Amino acid sequence: MKPIFVTQPYLPPLEEFVPYLEQIWQSKTLTNRGPMHQRLETQLCEHLGVEHISLFANGTLALVTALQALRITGEVITTPYSFVATAHSLLWNGITPVFADIDPLTLNLDPRNIEDAITPQTTAIVPVHCYGTPCDIDGIQRIADNYNLKVIYDAAHAFGVKRDGQSILKAGDLSILSFHATKVFNTFEGGAIISPDAKTKQRIDHLKNFGFVDEVTVVAPGINGKMSEVNAAFGLLQLQHIDRALARRAEIDAMYRARLDGVAGIRLLQQPLPGNTSNHSYFPILVGPNFSMTRDELYHLMKEQGVHGRRYFYPLISEFPMYRHLPSAQPGLMPVAHEVSRQVLCLPMYPALTDEEVNRIADTVRYAATVQRQAAA
Ligand SMILES: Cc1ncc(COP(=O)(O)O)c(C=O)c1O
Repeated sequence: MKPIFVTQPYLPPLEEFVPYLEQIWQSKTLTNRGPMHQRLETQLCEHLGVEHISLFANGTLALVTALQALRITGEVITTPYSFVATAHSLLWNGITPVFADIDPLTLNLDPRNIEDAITPQTTAIVPVHCYGTPCDIDGIQRIADNYNLKVIYDAAHAFGVKRDGQSILKAGDLSILSFHATKVFNTFEGGAIISPDAKTKQRIDHLKNFGFVDEVTVVAPGINGKMSEVNAAFGLLQLQHIDRALARRAEIDAMYRARLDGVAGIRLLQQPLPGNTSNHSYFPILVGPNFSMTRDELYHLMKEQGVHGRRYFYPLISEFPMYRHLPSAQPGLMPVAHEVSRQVLCLPMYPALTDEEVNRIADTVRYAATVQRQAAA
């Protein structure tokens, strides 16, 4: 049977991309804020409902630059339950990550655990809207205001997510996005920083271009974080298709929920509250102790059946060698993150999945539940 992988990048018809390439060939501008880049910034601002966006070559460079733009130093409180780039961006800036445990329902940094992690060296909080589920933005902001800390959201998963009709990308001091091939909106590789004002955007634009302000003036040791014209052009085309892609993701989400709700031992994440918009970027299930087998047994059984889920996020960032020596990385300090990381399995989720494939995947989980029970009986 045809293998099904956890994701498949969304690719519009190739012939639709050719006219964009022809324009690039005509303009002979391949990068450095070319016309495609400028159009994509404008269109993304409109689409996302934000005012200032800076495009990047990828989300990791956006994170590294966001920390530099706000001159973050010392210690930063973050979640262990994320992709490694969240913490790596801190190390690239010589900052010490301080991990704090997550909320068992949202799987995002739990504000109740942030305050205990604050020391005189703390300068910022870097929370992640994991799977596109909004963090407790108000709770985090209250702490940041009390302790005079900056907040940079890793919103790599949160393209198009809204809370009470407002983009969550406006929360905190800065937010970053990833447009990696596996993301809801992709530019092959790509990313962005959302800024609250033109001055901050300008500083970020300098930092992503080696620190150049004009031909002869360099004001900071900036990096090359620029997005090329080809990537920006692909983004413009993707925007034409994004509503359809998101609608299909919502259908798949609903099908999974209908088939898996009530399977003993399987927990699904909560649906967004009314008034909030989800992007259905992932479909994680939590395999609890009441399920007939462990998460890893289910993962391998599904693989044998050609369904390749992924254990995002396992191991935790705090378990990797460059982090596990940190005092905040001790497993006993983060019981929720450790438990979730050993229970989570992300099921395949991408617009091209057919109804038959979604049913096949859900049936594999349901089958796993019954097989073991019969074997045990
Ligand atoms: C939560 C999170 N942060 C940061 C990144 C890094 O983004 P990029 O791959 O575009 O560098 C990713 C994904 O790749 C991610 O999932």
